[in-house]
Amino acid sequence: PQGASRTEEGELAIDGVKVSDLAHRFGTPAYILSEDHFRNRARAFRDAFNAAFAPLCGGVDVYYAGKSFLCVEVAKWVQEEGLRLDTCSGGELALAARAGIEGPKLGLHGNNKSDAEINRALDMSVGRIVVDSLQELERVAAIAGMRQLRAPVLLRLTPGIHAETHEFIATAHEDQKFGLSMTAVHGERSTAERAVGAALGHPSLELLGVHCHIGSQIFSAEGFALAAEKLLTFIASIRDLHGVSLKELDLGGGYGIAYTDLDQPKEPAELAAAMADVVGATCARLGIDVPRISIEPGRAIVGSSTFTLYTVGTLKTINVQHGEDISERRYVSVDGGMSDNPRPVLYGATYTAALASRRSEAPSVLSRVVGKHCESGDIVVKDAYLPADLVAGDLLAVPGTGAYCWVLGSNYNYTPRPPVVAVSQGQARLILRGETEEDLFRREVAS
Ligand code: LLP
Repeated sequence: PQGASRTEEGELAIDGVKVSDLAHRFGTPAYILSEDHFRNRARAFRDAFNAAFAPLCGGVDVYYAGKSFLCVEVAKWVQEEGLRLDTCSGGELALAARAGIEGPKLGLHGNNKSDAEINRALDMSVGRIVVDSLQELERVAAIAGMRQLRAPVLLRLTPGIHAETHEFIATAHEDQKFGLSMTAVHGERSTAERAVGAALGHPSLELLGVHCHIGSQIFSAEGFALAAEKLLTFIASIRDLHGVSLKELDLGGGYGIAYTDLDQPKEPAELAAAMADVVGATCARLGIDVPRISIEPGRAIVGSSTFTLYTVGTLKTINVQHGEDISERRYVSVDGGMSDNPRPVLYGATYTAALASRRSEAPSVLSRVVGKHCESGDIVVKDAYLPADLVAGDLLAVPGTGAYCWVLGSNYNYTPRPPVVAVSQGQARLILRGETEEDLFRREVAS
């Protein structure tokens, strides 16, 4: 992350705080989060999108996707930086309330919201409920109607653009659980069009506009632009059909980050400019007003802000046979693994690792960094070049673990969750404490 440097002795430091001090104070494994990095990325998205869209529309609302990483402290940073918060469960709404985020600054997602979640969103006066199906539309309308409220809704549409990290398959990608289909079958109206008709017919609903989210860890602006074009065309068709102009367009999240040198993410300004160009040109061509734009980045704000600090334990070199040839592979075990970062085992995600506690002049050898769990798939970094002289007790840093690591973590093998430590201006402080053995037994009924 930003603020990472090496001391004269070759030890990794973050904002001037040495990793040995962090390990001593907080133990390992630990997630080390640069607060300045997080805040700067939040501001970068806010400012870049607002600047690019300023000539076109009133502004852009940036909703931080809390599912990528969230705790009360981080929710406060989000609010302080002028972002809103995208939630997708009653739990995330509860967290937003604890952090003191005002309801109108919140959005609620989910393909299977419970009545309790819908009621909670209405209790909190959230700014938008993103409706995911016709059935849910009726449910929100009924609940709001019963309570004599008007629920602000966005409709989540599936524009049929599916991002496969580097590429887009612009064929209908409809066979998944999210959203309302935009495809008309057998000459009938599409589900999305029917949802608009239904929403307009319910006095208990305030239809704000439409939403889409095309995927995650996407590098090019092309897919977002394609999706924007498709949704704007839909907005124009709704104007022609119902005489109504939908005022808001949310283009979701999904902006990629660099996990390894092979990943080349675009800067927020470049993404924003490309998207604004397409939105401006499409609206002009269709003769519609530019709607208010919103986006929901998660990973691109928090992902690179964090590294996980591990301690090296068992080292083992094994022979690997390829046909006639035999080569060696070194296994470097660390004190965490799939319980604090399940992304390699879930998605085959790639990470890198670096010796953090000291400098080494030893040659690098091909290594596999593995966790401590009872599963052979428990890999942290599949192929890492690490110094030949690694020893137990060395500290390793694995960068890029800010998004979808702590939140997807588990207590597998009765492993306590590690703490999250925020570092800023030479100071480190706990923002989420690590779990204790007590915590592991807190839910036991037997005494
Ligand atoms: N908006 C919606 C409606 C979403 O579903 C998501 C992510 C986001 C925004 C934020 O996407 P981001 O900017 O963070 O890419 N666990 C997976 C990623 C799941 C993404 C789920 N939805 C992973 O670790 O790669």
